[in-house]
Amino acid sequence: MQISARKPLSGTLTAPGDKSISHRAAIFAALAGGRTHISNFAPGDDAASTLHCLQLLGAAVDRSGDDISVCGQEGGLSEPDDVLDCGNSGTTMRLLSGVLAGQKMHAVLTGDESLLARPMGRITVPLGEMGADIRGRQNNSLAPLSVQPADLRPVQHRLKVASAQVKSALLIAGLYCGGPVSVREPAQSRDHTERMLQGFGARVKTEERVVTVEGHVDRLEWTSDCLRVPGDISSAAFIAAAALLVPGSDICIRDVGINRTRAGMLRMLQRMGARVQITNRRSWGGEPVADLRVVHGPLRSVQVDADELVCMIDEVPVLALLASRAEGVSRFESAAELRVKETDRLAAIVEELGALGARVRVCGDDLVVRGGGPDTSGVADARGDHRMAMTLLLAGLDGASVRVRRAVPSISVSYPQFARDLQSLGARVRVPPPTGWVGLLGHPVQHSLSAAMFAAAFAAEGLEGWSYRPFDVPPPDLSDAVSGLRVLGVRGFNVTAPHKQEAARLVDSLDETARRADAVNTVVAKEAKLVGYNTDIYGVSRSLRQAGFSAEESSVLILGAGGAARAAACALADGGASTLWLANRTLGRARSLAREIRKIDPNIKTGCSTLADIPTEEHFDLVVQSTILGMAPHEGECPLASGFCLRPDMTVFEMVYNPPETPFLRRARGAGAQVIAGSEMLVHQGARAFELWTGLPAPVQTMRRRVRRELTCLST
Ligand code: S3P
Repeated sequence: MQISARKPLSGTLTAPGDKSISHRAAIFAALAGGRTHISNFAPGDDAASTLHCLQLLGAAVDRSGDDISVCGQEGGLSEPDDVLDCGNSGTTMRLLSGVLAGQKMHAVLTGDESLLARPMGRITVPLGEMGADIRGRQNNSLAPLSVQPADLRPVQHRLKVASAQVKSALLIAGLYCGGPVSVREPAQSRDHTERMLQGFGARVKTEERVVTVEGHVDRLEWTSDCLRVPGDISSAAFIAAAALLVPGSDICIRDVGINRTRAGMLRMLQRMGARVQITNRRSWGGEPVADLRVVHGPLRSVQVDADELVCMIDEVPVLALLASRAEGVSRFESAAELRVKETDRLAAIVEELGALGARVRVCGDDLVVRGGGPDTSGVADARGDHRMAMTLLLAGLDGASVRVRRAVPSISVSYPQFARDLQSLGARVRVPPPTGWVGLLGHPVQHSLSAAMFAAAFAAEGLEGWSYRPFDVPPPDLSDAVSGLRVLGVRGFNVTAPHKQEAARLVDSLDETARRADAVNTVVAKEAKLVGYNTDIYGVSRSLRQAGFSAEESSVLILGAGGAARAAACALADGGASTLWLANRTLGRARSLAREIRKIDPNIKTGCSTLADIPTEEHFDLVVQSTILGMAPHEGECPLASGFCLRPDMTVFEMVYNPPETPFLRRARGAGAQVIAGSEMLVHQGARAFELWTGLPAPVQTMRRRVRRELTCLST
């Protein structure tokens, strides 16, 4: 995904429901008596994971968009008949561990690769002290976790890290103890659990940094009509940051939760000199809510101490990005907890933002960001982390062009409508369609490495829903094959020998490249119309340039006069070649190509002959081999008559790439000529096709590596 802003962002939007509060609302509703209605429930996969687990535990959940209703079980849940999959959500796993610790049943909690690597000893140990029987991998420190029936006893906990998830798990388990349970934190973490437990009628008191719960789970009940979830400040943070990054922006975000144990980011922004106005303050279900107006302006650096960091723990990545655009050096103290989030965020910030020009480093556990760094274009990886994905996308908003790999599935965890929301404020969003299939029409096609090359490209860009299929189509069937692909909803296809010229007649329109070459090697389906392109021309130009060959004033011999020869002739005419000699098995086709090339470039000199009659006295700087001779089933054949002499001062371009060594290439090497292999052309024409189909810049290096690997396998 790529997001850019060519004009100031402006407008008003509503923040999506708070994820943290939604998890708690759904869990307490499932434990309470009666039916609880929850509105503005968080979108995204994390909150959905909690709902799904609660359903497996016997709660009846009805969902209609952001409104849900949960029919509770009065404390007693039923044994799930499957493992509870928490997906990417640490809050789901840790809070449900607290719920399950005091139940009389067997349950297993699991999650995705990221969650299975996150520390769980921080809950299994203190819950174990209360008598819970929870086991996990590596001495109970990692999920999957299995929970067995147990009787819990009241305990006074003292936490080593300030963690709302751990605190909440212990407070929830405390509801099953029959006595007071207290938790002391080293710094005040978010207090949504405490507030909501009170809203559900439990007795909770907070003194200094000690929270004590005393209540019984079967007395929980939400007494007002509806539990309305405030907007998520952690999601709003990205929208606010976007406005602070794009000059001239002036936006409003409505209904944002501004609980002070969560809203550290707002205080930091104000310290950084950001113009953030908090208006229309009110309270929803015991949580403070307000509207935020954010106006672009210069930012200065900020120092964040350990206590403050807890109140903005999820906003550090995006604040680090803002700090990289501010004046001065910012420091986020004691940020070690970031190492155990959805990914190691300290490493991700340093490596991914660093690669985009930000001057960021980690000093002990502190994150240090030097502002005013250059912003560089590039490709970043979301590392499966929603907040990293959104931060990196914003890094491309104020000038540089930044593409983020695997952004869409990562963002869907908390803020699936992020891109749409930014678009509504005036940003431009480029996202490839999530699924699509493309193909290749040729005869034969067994030699083609395109399927492997595109499979690697799709995987590298996170386009798991895309595939590439080669089809062997004899010439009489080409028209039916194109109609077939059209009705089957292909996104596009490549065309190889012998169909490149005929394909130009079968598509609905031709772009400039295909019109000039009168040959098509790439077709793009656009709104049910097939548009023909010639990306071979680009492939040839790039390969020549890369090999250091300048076509300017050169004299070139092209062997063959089919579709590939046409692309080569166009590329060479564009490059300023002075003479093109076209040698083909049948003289007529060579002549017709020569006529067309002269139409493109009236100054170019052309000559034609059969392959057997190439003039030996003519000097050629470059010889291009564009026929299918040398390729299966014509291995061992060479289009060049044995009398023609290749010389060391010539450059030789073989368009056949499989097999990697053709008789023509062997002759060229033997003659000491400089050789350009066809695999580079395959990569570059394919890269252009990839861009036309997906709208994304192609991962050229990945495509090249895959082609080289396939060719190495073929030649060994
Ligand atoms: C959360 C607490 C924080 C936060 C997470 C949500 C919660 O985690 O990072 O996104 O809902 O309680 P820790 O408790 O691990 O700090």
